[in-house]
Amino acid sequence: MTVAKSDALVFYGATGDLAYKKIFPALLAMIRRGHLSVPVIGVAKSGWNLDQLKARAKDSIEHHGDFEAQAFDKLCGLLRYVDGDYREASTYAAIKRELGSAQFPAHYLAIPPVLFGTVVENLAKTGCAEKGRVIVEKPFGTDLESARKLNAILLSVFDEKSIFRIDHYLGKRPVHNMLFFRFANSLFEPFWNRIYIESVQITMAESFGVQGRGGFYDQTGAIRDVMQNHLFQVLTNLAMEPPVRTDSESIRDEKIKVFRAIPTLTPEDVQRGQFRGYTSEPGVAPGSSVETFGILRLEVDSWRWRGVPFFIRAGKCLPVTCTEVLVRLKQPPTMFRNYDLACNTMRMRISPEVTVALGANVPSADESKSIKAEMLATRQPKAEEMDAYERVLGDAMQGDPTLFAREDSVEEAWRIVDPIIKAGTPVAPYEPGTWGPSLIPPRLVPAGGWNDPIVTGP
Ligand code: BG6
Repeated sequence: MTVAKSDALVFYGATGDLAYKKIFPALLAMIRRGHLSVPVIGVAKSGWNLDQLKARAKDSIEHHGDFEAQAFDKLCGLLRYVDGDYREASTYAAIKRELGSAQFPAHYLAIPPVLFGTVVENLAKTGCAEKGRVIVEKPFGTDLESARKLNAILLSVFDEKSIFRIDHYLGKRPVHNMLFFRFANSLFEPFWNRIYIESVQITMAESFGVQGRGGFYDQTGAIRDVMQNHLFQVLTNLAMEPPVRTDSESIRDEKIKVFRAIPTLTPEDVQRGQFRGYTSEPGVAPGSSVETFGILRLEVDSWRWRGVPFFIRAGKCLPVTCTEVLVRLKQPPTMFRNYDLACNTMRMRISPEVTVALGANVPSADESKSIKAEMLATRQPKAEEMDAYERVLGDAMQGDPTLFAREDSVEEAWRIVDPIIKAGTPVAPYEPGTWGPSLIPPRLVPAGGWNDPIVTGP
């Protein structure tokens, strides 16, 4: 069955922060690539008019995108604006008017989840949801129960095929390309299992703090903000079995199996930290115990992975901005016992640049000792490629759900972290610019130590 392409995009929250930072630049990029030519209807309750929205779009693209006058004029030609309260029928009547003859609208909810229910209910009542689809932003809920409620609300109006839950990490090419590396090569498969792999570690380090988002962040914390979603997606790409085909459901069916194989975490599996100075950030509650740093230790209890610990670490105000995976192999039963041998590694860097490298022992020139060398497989500088938002918006409008989180995997991901986000485990302070709290329980340190990524410039 062919899936209809969206013939209009309605985005709710048009005057908000996400629209400013991500959506307008993505829309312009889509136009430049010839991927957008349908009406774009911004909706918000700000007392604005269309000219004000256009001015905001211009400012947004100048600050966060690549401004180009011709493409911007085209965007202005597509833009419409509806100002109104999400609870009032007149707002939806106005949306309907702007939709005109469009039959397959995509409704993008870039608004707080508390409003989802009101909006989708009204879309259904006014016939705006028929044949349409809905795109929703992360965070998808705050725990298992709220995620289930949100799913129930969306599913009461749209079917699962028409719901696109954004996790923009999935829209990053290097994240999806992990599957390409694994399954387009036979090189990795023989050692990609519990027999050869000792541990897997994933680090998402950010050198900046909460960047004026203190109010949001203080309700969220690192585990909910980036671990339960972005880094879990990286983990599933590393751990999943080869899908039988490349269609969305074949891939998402394998991902859900990984989530199901991960036991629910307990307080011993987590370390939380908070950078000094966090509680002085605007919007942060005095005495807040929200974590800006976290380590999780997970198991994937499957035939392939049982017994291999997966460590995930994320934090704000760390020394660098970098997301990197390090897979450590077990030591071979070698006769070279006098050499100080390192474990073989496979390193996959997702950002700022893309690297895949194999670490091996090689003898030194005089053959007296071993040197750990990386046999560089590939290093790609930051490419002129689609931004994650451009990709996910484009895919949602095309109706391709591959790079979106499915209902079952969102709920499983919450199930895994649910008890530990409620356990109130201690939050250890750390100095900004360091790799987190100085004392980490041994259980949360991979054998051989944490790999602290080194970033050497553009
Ligand atoms: C967002 C988080 O989802 O992802 C931010 O809310 C985080 O806190 C961001 O900084 C990281 O994404 P990217 O694409 O900038 O690496």
